[in-house]
Amino acid sequence: MEWHLGPLFIILIMAAKCGSGNGMPQSQQHHESNSQLDPDPEFIGFINNVTYPAGREAVLACSVRNLGKNKVGWLRASDQTVLALQGRVVTHNARISVMHQDMHTWKLKISKLRESDRGCYMCQINTSPMKKQVGCIDVQVPPDIINEESSADLAVQEGEDATLTCKATGNPQPRVIWRREDGEMILIRKPGSRELMKVETYNGSSLRLLRLERRQMGAYLCIASNDVPPAVSKRVSLSVQFAPMVRAPSQLLGTPLGSDVQLECQVEASPSPVSYWLKGARTSNGFASVSTASLESGSPGPEMLLDGPKYGITEKRDGYRGVMLLVVRSFSASDVGTYHCVSTNSLGRAEGTLRLYEIKLHPGASSSNDEHLNYIGGKWREISRE
Ligand SMILES: *[C@@H]1O[C@H](CO)[C@@H](O)[C@H](O)[C@H]1NC(C)=O
Ligand SMILES: *[C@@H]1O[C@H](CO)[C@@H](O)[C@H](O)[C@H]1NC(C)=O
Repeated sequence: MEWHLGPLFIILIMAAKCGSGNGMPQSQQHHESNSQLDPDPEFIGFINNVTYPAGREAVLACSVRNLGKNKVGWLRASDQTVLALQGRVVTHNARISVMHQDMHTWKLKISKLRESDRGCYMCQINTSPMKKQVGCIDVQVPPDIINEESSADLAVQEGEDATLTCKATGNPQPRVIWRREDGEMILIRKPGSRELMKVETYNGSSLRLLRLERRQMGAYLCIASNDVPPAVSKRVSLSVQFAPMVRAPSQLLGTPLGSDVQLECQVEASPSPVSYWLKGARTSNGFASVSTASLESGSPGPEMLLDGPKYGITEKRDGYRGVMLLVVRSFSASDVGTYHCVSTNSLGRAEGTLRLYEIKLHPGASSSNDEHLNYIGGKWREISRE
């Protein structure tokens, strides 16, 4: 049945087009307005949906032809609040204004856009039945990182797991990536896998690090971005903690009398250790007899070395790695003996042992014999005390 209506529709549409008046001869327009039946108001095209960043101004344009004695109103679609009627704003919102342009167009403007302005707006003609069109505003919001829901700096013992989380908001929903602040690769252990995978960036708001190793320690940055600048980032410092480990690359050092000699220990520790040098016997093992001997003779046991004219003590640290250096100046017979570099932190204590002996430049010329061999035998303390 409706097939027969086809041609009639086309005629109506053509009539409506004549009514728009653009470039039509005067006579036809005159004829049109004189016609018995005024054409109904109708919309020209659609209202464009728009997207603007928060803070900017959004404009929705509603175009109507043949309005006649009817009126155009703007309503908020969600709650049907009337915002404007014809050229007049009827809501108490200073950010809303309306403009009537080129006869046909009614524009709704919302300045200083807020997120709460996001939604659809209805352009209504008060015909009976009422005619309406809807246009929607999307408000873009730059990314933000919610501190309360994101990871703070954290300290984890080596071998345990850690999850770094960054919660970001914004519209569109921001992407979150992680990278290391120092530019190193992020090491990720796939669940159930032994080896660590290297990635420059990790996509996702939660960075899960399983069975942490010390080299995963560092500052991590989560970066949240969407189409709306600026991107934001947060720094999360991950401390991987473990008891000190000490290594002495050269454990036996020979030097001629009168020269300066340097002793070195390499230390790995986290948190940062307290480190010092001891000269003398160890109290804990192997040298107990010496200790006892020292005690019996009123000796205070191992002597802690202090930076000064005789000893130069320095410590360099780079992250969890460090180097302890001891320079013994103007090496003399009393400097022969055992030295310990000791490093302690809250998780433990470690020490390295080095031995200094004298190198005879003119064998036979020296009055002393192979005394230094005795030191290892545990008699050095008495000798060095003279
Ligand atoms: C605008 O968005 C609304 C809601 O999503 C939709 O119904 C309408 O068709 C859109 N208008 C245009 C011109 O795309
Ligand atoms: C991470 O995201 C970036 C950009 O969003 C993309 O280029 C890259 O391919 C993604 N990487 C992975 C592993 O998904």
